Amino acid sequence: MQNIIKDIDILPSGEAQACDFKTTKDESTGKAKKLYIESYGCQMNFSDSEIVASIMKKNGFDTTSSYEQADVIFLNTCSIREKAEQTVRKRLQQFNHIKAQHPGITIGVLGCMAERLKEKLLEEEKLVDVVVGPDAYRDLPSLVSAAEDGTKGVNTFLSREETYADISPVRLNSNGVSAFISIMRGCDNMCSFCVVPFTRGRERSRDPYSIRDEAKELFESGYREVTLLGQNVDSYKWSPEENNKARLNKKESVTEKIVNFANLLEMVAQVNPALRVRFSTSHPKDITDEVLYTMKKYDNICKYIHLPVQSGNSRILSLMNRTYDRDWYLERVQKIREILGDECGISSDMIAGFCTETEEEHQDTLSLMDLVEFDFSYMFYYSERPGTLAAKKFEDDIPLSVKKRRLQEIIARQNQWSLFRNRKDVGKVQEILIEGTSKRSKDEWKGRNSANKVVIVPSGNFKPGDYVWVKITDCSSATLFGELIA
Ligand code: SAH
Ligand code: SF4
Ligand code: F3S
Repeated sequence: MQNIIKDIDILPSGEAQACDFKTTKDESTGKAKKLYIESYGCQMNFSDSEIVASIMKKNGFDTTSSYEQADVIFLNTCSIREKAEQTVRKRLQQFNHIKAQHPGITIGVLGCMAERLKEKLLEEEKLVDVVVGPDAYRDLPSLVSAAEDGTKGVNTFLSREETYADISPVRLNSNGVSAFISIMRGCDNMCSFCVVPFTRGRERSRDPYSIRDEAKELFESGYREVTLLGQNVDSYKWSPEENNKARLNKKESVTEKIVNFANLLEMVAQVNPALRVRFSTSHPKDITDEVLYTMKKYDNICKYIHLPVQSGNSRILSLMNRTYDRDWYLERVQKIREILGDECGISSDMIAGFCTETEEEHQDTLSLMDLVEFDFSYMFYYSERPGTLAAKKFEDDIPLSVKKRRLQEIIARQNQWSLFRNRKDVGKVQEILIEGTSKRSKDEWKGRNSANKVVIVPSGNFKPGDYVWVKITDCSSATLFGELIA
């Protein structure tokens, strides 16, 4: 799935995904100990940190936003590109001196880097006490308690069943308006460049009734937007036979039905018309017309699809093992336009300089961008990851300077299209959901339209979580500006 940026209005930029967030929630429910978590990588990882906080809370920890006060420090890490791992290693070095001052604290590395490097992390990073992979978080309390007694520990077991469906996440970095709900874990697509199948394991879908209940609870506590998260949401599939019967809500009469992603979207959309529903990430090979028609049927399903193309050239797509080609992708986009119209936002991920990519093939990516007119994209140059199919089969033969130049061309082209697409909105009247004050000024508020674009409006008599109608009066390539309609 896409790595989601804390503030999408800073997009697009080359390495925008290398973002992080830390615990912002200072809880004091009288628990004996304090936990500080810092998260890197994609939104699924951030969402996992909220599950981790919940598990730790049940075991005597309140969260803190200050690592100086923490008894336990967790870094929930990402392995997607080399740079992501370097960032974490630097951070661990910074934590060295804290540990020197407070020898009693426990430092844990969680997430994808933990999964990829396993025991090696304990050898390489001497100050790390526990290493725990994405499917082993239920084991954290016992590993931490062993570490407190001086025994370092590793659990990187990958599960075929774990979905943490029964764990109610502690919302850590929330604006109180929008929240993320994990609907599945792992990935069964073997894109040749990608480390995720190795760090997250096999794909499995979470019980749909637990997802709907989580959405309901969020709505009842004031949230107005949920984003359903998975690496490939279109392959969501849940049936009582295939999935863990023990977690099934026995009161449901329709539990015998197979639930696909379109069905799940509908279930969540029906929670309340005032609850916006988003999802990420869609895979071009799997997105169905049924999903598009379900989006059309419900006003509260946002008209926005993140549909990463990676490359506009069919030979490169085949080497990437994406299992679709340029024409297939363009047909899917045409279908989105046919069913949902021009106003539906479409964004992408792009990789510049994949193994053996020629200048002409790079031009195909630029020309595909011209055909689709993406609203925005997350753009990267190829970073070889140990253990992936591409690392085993192909030479990483494009010089870094060429990768970077191609990436700059892709970014420049995207900026043009983002501005073009935003200009199309100027003059239109749109409903936005207010998220909070704008970063620029306390006199301005920030909201989002259905197509996921940030809209800045002058402050008025409203609060976060309110829906307001605005007329779009101006734009930049990253942001829309609007005025309130009475
Ligand atoms: N499941 C999502 C992708 C998750 S990773 C999907 O299939 O679209 C987010 C993005 O990181 C990918 O879409 C890809 O553009 C980028 N990425 C993944 N591995 C990479 C690598 N080795 N080098 C550069 N970018 C990479
Ligand atoms: Fe990685 Fe491909 Fe799975 Fe996305 S779909 S997580 S890019 S293997
Ligand atoms: Fe996400 Fe990074 Fe892991 S993108 S799935 S945290 S490798």
